[in-house]
Amino acid sequence: MSPAIIVVAAGRGERLGLGIPKALVEIDGKTILEHCLENLPDSEQLIVVAPADYLSEFEKLIPEHTELVSGGETRQQSALNGLQLAKTEKVLIHDAARCFVPVEVFERVTQALAEFDAVVPGLAVTDTIKRVDGEMVSETIDRSELIAVQTPQGFDREKLLASFDSASVTDEAMLMEQAGHNVGWVRGDVSSRKITTIDDLASDSFVGIGVDSHKFSDSGTLKLGTLEIPEHPQLAGHSDGDALSHAIVDALLAAARLGDIGSVFGVDDPEFEGAAGDKFITQTMQFVQKAGFSALNVSCQIVADKPKISPLRMQLQAKLSDLVGAPVSVLATTTDGLGFLSDARGVAAVATASLKKAR
Ligand code: CTP
Ligand code: MG
Repeated sequence: MSPAIIVVAAGRGERLGLGIPKALVEIDGKTILEHCLENLPDSEQLIVVAPADYLSEFEKLIPEHTELVSGGETRQQSALNGLQLAKTEKVLIHDAARCFVPVEVFERVTQALAEFDAVVPGLAVTDTIKRVDGEMVSETIDRSELIAVQTPQGFDREKLLASFDSASVTDEAMLMEQAGHNVGWVRGDVSSRKITTIDDLASDSFVGIGVDSHKFSDSGTLKLGTLEIPEHPQLAGHSDGDALSHAIVDALLAAARLGDIGSVFGVDDPEFEGAAGDKFITQTMQFVQKAGFSALNVSCQIVADKPKISPLRMQLQAKLSDLVGAPVSVLATTTDGLGFLSDARGVAAVATASLKKAR
């Protein structure tokens, strides 16, 4: 029989500071609770522990046959309230705030429960850890003996129930350790990190900005946003002068913190002599992906008297979206008679890119 899963979601989210329980905070249009429930494996019994004053909101977000119970003042009390409803021999207790845990972690914990009274998933600590005493460092701890512990944590239900007492603990495995039961550990996952502060949300998406301008040359054919636009001369530059593609490249590089077009591709590299915008964007996307990002969207604006962009907009957007692998919107404006762009001497473009760190 698969273990019951108890999702503890009754916290207030004080450190997140958004004025609602953390489980109700949205990421990409879905609450943390919904993400969490979506990423759970099938189980015999699913119990969600919610803040007592938000039961009706939670009720709307949970699948059929899920049992909903009020939590307590502490995480420990919330876990106990859930545990008291569980009927299976083994149980998994899981933080709603760790809403992107891969299903393999649930499987590893469940498997190891055949050998241990309790199992925690954990990851080796990579930072050097020091003990401090006020302002002084007193000791460097041997990190080879340390893991950072995550959830879901697995338990023999009856042994855990018998181990509960009023002492304050940071996780239920600690109750089992204190009661002398054998507690094992399995490999956790980087995606299992807990959402605690606003930084944990903000760090998921990154914005970059890019600006470029080129003057018209006397010859050639205009290349803009990777399109060939006859009836206008080419823009001058070491590459093909495609100011729109270059602004997009800079925005993507900026969002991924990879530098700018000059530092990444060079300003006089023979490989990029006359190079087309497609080549820059495709290579940039490879760098961006290698750095662990995917594009959410790009928004750009051309500033120029000519060419007229509206008849080209759909084509530009389709071609660029294809290259970036995410929606690209292209807008255009003139400068109301101001500056070098007003008498059609050149084209400027500005772009913003939004990237997401792969989980
Ligand atoms: N939790 C709970 N009942 C509590 C406190 C916490 O069910 N009384 C749950 C949280 O909902 C969360 C998990 O335990 O899924 C881990 O707790 P934490 O990250 O501390 O969440 P919050 O308590 O909501 O956050 P904060 O401490 O910032 O208020
Ligand atoms: Mg808390």
